[in-house]
Amino acid sequence: MKKYVVIGDPIAHSMSPVMHNDLFQFYQIEAQYDLFHIKKGMLKEGLSQLKEMDVAGFNITVPHKSDIIPFLDELDPLSQAIGAVNTVVNENGKWVGYNTDGYGYVRGLLTILPALTDKKVMMIGAGGAARAIYFTLAYEKVHKIDIVNRTLEKAEDLKKACPYSVETDVLDLKSAKERCGEYDLIIQTTSIGMSPHTKEQPISLENLNSNSLVSDIIYNPLETKLLHEAKMKGAIVQNGLEMFVFQGALAFEKWTGIFPDTERMKRNVLKQLG
Ligand code: ATR
Repeated sequence: MKKYVVIGDPIAHSMSPVMHNDLFQFYQIEAQYDLFHIKKGMLKEGLSQLKEMDVAGFNITVPHKSDIIPFLDELDPLSQAIGAVNTVVNENGKWVGYNTDGYGYVRGLLTILPALTDKKVMMIGAGGAARAIYFTLAYEKVHKIDIVNRTLEKAEDLKKACPYSVETDVLDLKSAKERCGEYDLIIQTTSIGMSPHTKEQPISLENLNSNSLVSDIIYNPLETKLLHEAKMKGAIVQNGLEMFVFQGALAFEKWTGIFPDTERMKRNVLKQLG
Protein backbone atom coordinates (compact mmCIF):
# COMPACT_ATOMS: atom_id res chain seq x y z
CA MET A 1 0.00 0.00 0.00
CA LYS A 2 1.55 3.32 -1.12
CA LYS A 3 1.38 6.22 1.30
CA TYR A 4 0.61 9.85 0.44
CA VAL A 5 0.03 12.80 2.78
CA VAL A 6 -0.60 16.53 2.85
CA ILE A 7 1.54 18.56 5.24
CA GLY A 8 0.66 21.97 6.67
CA ASP A 9 -0.34 23.95 9.75
CA PRO A 10 -3.30 24.08 10.26
CA ILE A 11 -4.23 20.99 8.27
CA ALA A 12 -7.37 19.48 9.86
CA HIS A 13 -9.75 21.09 7.35
CA SER A 14 -7.91 20.05 4.20
CA MET A 15 -10.19 18.40 1.65
CA SER A 16 -7.28 16.72 -0.15
CA PRO A 17 -7.53 13.32 1.65
CA VAL A 18 -11.18 12.78 0.70
CA MET A 19 -10.47 13.94 -2.86
CA HIS A 20 -7.43 11.68 -3.42
CA ASN A 21 -8.70 8.62 -1.51
CA ASP A 22 -11.83 8.63 -3.65
CA LEU A 23 -9.62 8.69 -6.78
CA PHE A 24 -7.36 5.88 -5.53
CA GLN A 25 -10.44 3.76 -4.95
CA PHE A 26 -12.03 4.72 -8.28
CA TYR A 27 -8.89 3.88 -10.28
CA GLN A 28 -8.19 0.78 -8.13
CA ILE A 29 -4.82 1.97 -6.93
CA GLU A 30 -3.56 0.53 -3.64
CA ALA A 31 -2.78 3.74 -1.83
CA GLN A 32 -3.85 5.79 1.15
CA TYR A 33 -3.72 9.59 1.53
CA ASP A 34 -3.68 11.13 5.04
CA LEU A 35 -3.32 14.43 6.85
CA PHE A 36 0.12 14.97 8.35
CA HIS A 37 0.34 17.92 10.69
CA ILE A 38 3.76 19.62 10.73
CA LYS A 39 3.86 22.72 12.87
CA LYS A 40 5.57 25.89 11.71
CA GLY A 41 9.25 25.68 12.72
CA MET A 42 9.14 21.86 12.87
CA LEU A 43 9.56 21.12 9.18
CA LYS A 44 12.91 19.33 9.44
CA GLU A 45 11.65 16.93 12.13
CA GLY A 46 8.38 16.32 10.30
CA LEU A 47 10.11 15.57 7.01
CA SER A 48 12.48 13.06 8.55
CA GLN A 49 9.40 11.18 9.79
CA LEU A 50 8.05 11.20 6.23
CA LYS A 51 11.38 9.81 4.97
CA GLU A 52 11.13 6.97 7.49
CA MET A 53 7.55 6.26 6.40
CA ASP A 54 8.81 6.08 2.81
CA VAL A 55 5.91 8.13 1.45
CA ALA A 56 5.36 7.85 -2.30
CA GLY A 57 4.46 11.53 -2.52
CA PHE A 58 2.91 14.44 -0.69
CA ASN A 59 1.26 17.84 -0.99
CA ILE A 60 2.45 20.91 0.86
CA THR A 61 0.28 23.73 2.05
CA VAL A 62 0.66 26.85 4.21
CA PRO A 63 3.16 27.63 5.80
CA HIS A 64 5.70 25.20 4.29
CA LYS A 65 5.48 25.79 0.51
CA SER A 66 8.74 27.76 0.30
CA ASP A 67 10.57 26.38 3.34
CA ILE A 68 10.44 22.86 1.91
CA ILE A 69 12.74 23.70 -1.01
CA PRO A 70 16.14 23.07 0.70
CA PHE A 71 14.93 19.57 1.67
CA LEU A 72 14.21 18.47 -1.91
CA ASP A 73 16.59 16.62 -4.23
CA GLU A 74 15.24 18.20 -7.43
CA LEU A 75 12.88 20.99 -8.47
CA ASP A 76 11.12 21.52 -11.78
CA PRO A 77 12.00 24.89 -13.40
CA LEU A 78 8.63 26.58 -12.84
CA SER A 79 8.46 25.75 -9.12
CA GLN A 80 12.05 26.93 -8.82
CA ALA A 81 11.10 30.26 -10.41
CA ILE A 82 7.98 30.58 -8.24
CA GLY A 83 9.97 29.64 -5.16
CA ALA A 84 7.19 27.44 -3.84
CA VAL A 85 6.30 23.76 -4.10
CA ASN A 86 2.92 22.16 -3.46
CA THR A 87 3.59 18.64 -4.76
CA VAL A 88 6.46 16.22 -4.13
CA VAL A 89 7.00 12.93 -5.94
CA ASN A 90 9.26 10.26 -4.48
CA GLU A 91 11.18 9.10 -7.57
CA ASN A 92 13.26 6.09 -6.47
CA GLY A 93 14.13 7.71 -3.16
CA LYS A 94 14.66 11.19 -4.63
CA TRP A 95 12.18 13.88 -3.62
CA VAL A 96 11.24 15.94 -6.67
CA GLY A 97 9.23 19.16 -6.19
CA TYR A 98 6.58 20.67 -8.47
CA ASN A 99 4.12 23.54 -8.28
CA THR A 100 0.70 22.59 -9.65
CA ASP A 101 -1.11 25.67 -8.26
CA GLY A 102 -0.41 27.92 -11.25
CA TYR A 103 -1.02 25.17 -13.80
CA GLY A 104 -4.13 24.09 -11.88
CA TYR A 105 -5.38 27.63 -12.24
CA VAL A 106 -4.60 27.77 -15.97
CA ARG A 107 -6.19 24.37 -16.66
CA GLY A 108 -9.30 25.48 -14.78
CA LEU A 109 -9.54 28.64 -16.89
CA LEU A 110 -9.13 26.66 -20.09
CA THR A 111 -12.34 24.79 -19.30
CA ILE A 112 -14.23 28.01 -20.09
CA LEU A 113 -11.82 29.92 -22.37
CA PRO A 114 -10.43 28.56 -25.65
CA ALA A 115 -7.08 30.38 -25.30
CA LEU A 116 -5.32 32.77 -22.98
CA THR A 117 -2.38 34.25 -24.86
CA ASP A 118 -4.39 37.02 -26.54
CA LYS A 119 -6.12 38.15 -23.35
CA LYS A 120 -5.53 41.39 -21.50
CA VAL A 121 -5.36 40.40 -17.85
CA MET A 122 -5.73 42.29 -14.59
CA MET A 123 -4.53 40.36 -11.55
CA ILE A 124 -5.53 41.57 -8.08
CA GLY A 125 -3.01 40.72 -5.33
CA ALA A 126 0.74 40.16 -5.09
CA GLY A 127 1.07 37.39 -2.47
CA GLY A 128 2.04 33.73 -2.79
CA ALA A 129 -0.97 32.64 -4.84
CA ALA A 130 -0.56 35.64 -7.17
CA ARG A 131 3.09 34.74 -7.72
CA ALA A 132 2.29 31.17 -8.84
CA ILE A 133 -0.48 32.38 -11.17
CA TYR A 134 1.46 35.34 -12.61
CA PHE A 135 4.59 33.30 -13.37
CA THR A 136 2.57 30.45 -14.87
CA LEU A 137 0.54 32.79 -17.09
CA ALA A 138 3.75 34.52 -18.22
CA TYR A 139 5.38 31.12 -18.83
CA GLU A 140 2.33 30.24 -20.94
CA LYS A 141 2.99 33.41 -23.00
CA VAL A 142 0.11 35.61 -21.86
CA HIS A 143 1.69 38.90 -22.86
CA LYS A 144 -0.28 41.55 -20.91
CA ILE A 145 -0.86 41.10 -17.18
CA ASP A 146 -1.31 44.19 -15.04
CA ILE A 147 -0.96 43.79 -11.28
CA VAL A 148 -3.22 45.59 -8.81
CA ASN A 149 -2.22 45.74 -5.17
CA ARG A 150 -2.84 47.78 -2.03
CA THR A 151 0.94 47.91 -1.44
CA LEU A 152 2.40 48.99 -4.78
CA GLU A 153 5.94 48.04 -3.83
CA LYS A 154 4.96 44.39 -3.49
CA ALA A 155 3.45 44.42 -6.97
CA GLU A 156 6.62 46.05 -8.36
CA ASP A 157 8.72 43.35 -6.65
CA LEU A 158 6.59 40.62 -8.18
CA LYS A 159 6.92 42.17 -11.64
CA LYS A 160 10.72 42.37 -11.29
CA ALA A 161 11.00 38.80 -10.03
CA CYS A 162 9.26 37.24 -13.04
CA PRO A 163 11.81 35.39 -15.19
CA TYR A 164 9.45 35.15 -18.19
CA SER A 165 8.70 37.86 -20.72
CA VAL A 166 5.45 39.71 -19.96
CA GLU A 167 4.17 43.27 -20.25
CA THR A 168 3.01 44.54 -16.85
CA ASP A 169 1.81 47.84 -15.40
CA VAL A 170 1.29 48.18 -11.67
CA LEU A 171 -2.00 49.80 -10.60
CA ASP A 172 -3.34 51.02 -7.30
CA LEU A 173 -6.81 50.01 -6.10
CA LYS A 174 -8.39 53.29 -7.22
CA SER A 175 -7.15 53.12 -10.83
CA ALA A 176 -8.04 49.44 -10.95
CA LYS A 177 -11.62 50.34 -10.11
CA GLU A 178 -11.68 53.01 -12.82
CA ARG A 179 -10.00 50.89 -15.49
CA CYS A 180 -11.43 47.41 -14.88
CA GLY A 181 -13.56 47.75 -18.03
CA GLU A 182 -10.43 47.57 -20.21
CA TYR A 183 -9.63 43.93 -19.37
CA ASP A 184 -10.72 40.60 -20.86
CA LEU A 185 -9.91 38.71 -17.69
CA ILE A 186 -9.80 39.83 -14.06
CA ILE A 187 -8.20 37.45 -11.57
CA GLN A 188 -8.72 37.88 -7.83
CA THR A 189 -5.91 36.15 -5.88
CA THR A 190 -6.15 37.62 -2.37
CA SER A 191 -8.02 36.16 0.60
CA ILE A 192 -10.42 39.13 0.60
CA GLY A 193 -13.98 37.81 0.58
CA MET A 194 -13.05 34.43 1.99
CA SER A 195 -15.31 33.02 4.69
CA PRO A 196 -15.98 34.42 7.32
CA HIS A 197 -15.24 37.85 5.75
CA THR A 198 -17.76 37.37 2.98
CA LYS A 199 -18.84 41.04 2.80
CA GLU A 200 -15.41 42.31 1.75
CA GLN A 201 -14.30 42.97 -1.82
CA PRO A 202 -10.86 44.22 -3.02
CA ILE A 203 -12.23 46.60 -5.69
CA SER A 204 -15.64 47.62 -6.94
CA LEU A 205 -16.50 46.38 -10.44
CA GLU A 206 -18.95 49.14 -11.31
CA ASN A 207 -17.04 49.92 -14.52
CA LEU A 208 -16.79 46.28 -15.60
CA ASN A 209 -17.37 45.35 -19.22
CA SER A 210 -19.99 42.60 -19.62
CA ASN A 211 -17.70 40.74 -22.07
CA SER A 212 -15.10 40.22 -19.36
CA LEU A 213 -14.43 37.07 -17.41
CA VAL A 214 -13.94 37.46 -13.67
CA SER A 215 -12.22 34.71 -11.76
CA ASP A 216 -11.76 34.44 -8.00
CA ILE A 217 -9.45 31.80 -6.51
CA ILE A 218 -11.65 31.59 -3.38
CA TYR A 219 -14.02 28.60 -3.24
CA ASN A 220 -15.44 29.15 0.22
CA PRO A 221 -17.87 30.83 -0.34
CA LEU A 222 -18.44 29.59 -3.90
CA GLU A 223 -19.66 33.06 -4.83
CA THR A 224 -17.66 35.93 -3.33
CA LYS A 225 -19.06 39.44 -3.26
CA LEU A 226 -16.78 40.26 -6.20
CA LEU A 227 -18.13 37.39 -8.31
CA HIS A 228 -21.67 38.33 -7.39
CA GLU A 229 -21.13 41.89 -8.60
CA ALA A 230 -19.47 40.62 -11.79
CA LYS A 231 -22.43 38.33 -12.49
CA MET A 232 -24.85 41.19 -11.96
CA LYS A 233 -22.86 43.13 -14.58
CA GLY A 234 -23.40 40.28 -17.04
CA ALA A 235 -19.81 38.96 -16.95
CA ILE A 236 -18.85 35.30 -17.03
CA VAL A 237 -17.45 34.20 -13.65
CA GLN A 238 -15.40 31.32 -12.30
CA ASN A 239 -14.79 30.53 -8.64
CA GLY A 240 -11.75 28.83 -7.07
CA LEU A 241 -13.13 25.31 -7.20
CA GLU A 242 -11.55 24.61 -10.61
CA MET A 243 -8.10 25.71 -9.43
CA PHE A 244 -8.36 23.53 -6.32
CA VAL A 245 -9.55 20.51 -8.27
CA PHE A 246 -7.05 20.90 -11.13
CA GLN A 247 -4.04 21.42 -8.84
CA GLY A 248 -5.08 18.15 -7.18
CA ALA A 249 -5.64 16.42 -10.53
CA LEU A 250 -2.18 17.43 -11.74
CA ALA A 251 -0.59 16.17 -8.50
CA PHE A 252 -2.50 12.88 -8.90
CA GLU A 253 -1.22 12.58 -12.47
CA LYS A 254 2.38 13.13 -11.32
CA TRP A 255 2.02 10.33 -8.76
CA THR A 256 0.08 7.77 -10.80
CA GLY A 257 0.39 8.68 -14.49
CA ILE A 258 -3.42 9.02 -14.65
CA PHE A 259 -5.09 12.37 -15.28
CA PRO A 260 -8.26 11.88 -13.22
CA ASP A 261 -11.91 12.72 -13.83
CA THR A 262 -12.10 16.35 -12.67
CA GLU A 263 -15.92 16.42 -12.77
CA ARG A 264 -15.95 13.58 -10.26
CA MET A 265 -13.47 15.49 -8.08
CA LYS A 266 -15.59 18.62 -8.26
CA ARG A 267 -18.73 16.75 -7.18
CA ASN A 268 -16.79 15.26 -4.28
CA VAL A 269 -15.48 18.64 -3.08
CA LEU A 270 -18.92 20.25 -3.44
CA LYS A 271 -20.39 17.46 -1.31
CA GLN A 272 -17.84 18.23 1.41
CA LEU A 273 -18.50 21.94 1.23
CA GLY A 274 -22.13 21.07 1.97
P1 ATR B 1 -1.27 34.34 -0.20
O1 ATR B 1 0.09 33.76 -0.02
O2 ATR B 1 -2.39 33.43 0.28
O3 ATR B 1 -1.52 34.84 -1.58
P2 ATR B 1 -0.39 36.75 1.13
O4 ATR B 1 0.97 36.47 0.68
O5 ATR B 1 -0.61 37.08 2.56
O6 ATR B 1 -1.40 35.57 0.82
O7 ATR B 1 -0.96 37.94 0.18
C1 ATR B 1 -2.12 38.54 0.45
C2 ATR B 1 -2.52 39.48 -0.69
O8 ATR B 1 -3.77 40.01 -0.31
C3 ATR B 1 -1.61 40.67 -0.87
O9 ATR B 1 -1.68 41.09 -2.21
C4 ATR B 1 -2.25 41.70 0.06
O10 ATR B 1 -1.99 43.05 -0.24
P3 ATR B 1 -0.70 43.78 0.38
O11 ATR B 1 0.48 43.33 -0.44
O12 ATR B 1 -0.98 45.23 0.21
O13 ATR B 1 -0.61 43.36 1.80
C5 ATR B 1 -3.69 41.42 -0.19
N1 ATR B 1 -4.55 41.85 0.92
C6 ATR B 1 -4.81 41.15 2.05
N2 ATR B 1 -5.70 41.83 2.81
C7 ATR B 1 -6.02 42.97 2.15
C8 ATR B 1 -6.91 44.07 2.39
N3 ATR B 1 -7.66 44.13 3.50
N4 ATR B 1 -6.99 45.05 1.46
C9 ATR B 1 -6.26 45.00 0.33
N5 ATR B 1 -5.40 44.00 0.04
C10 ATR B 1 -5.28 42.98 0.93
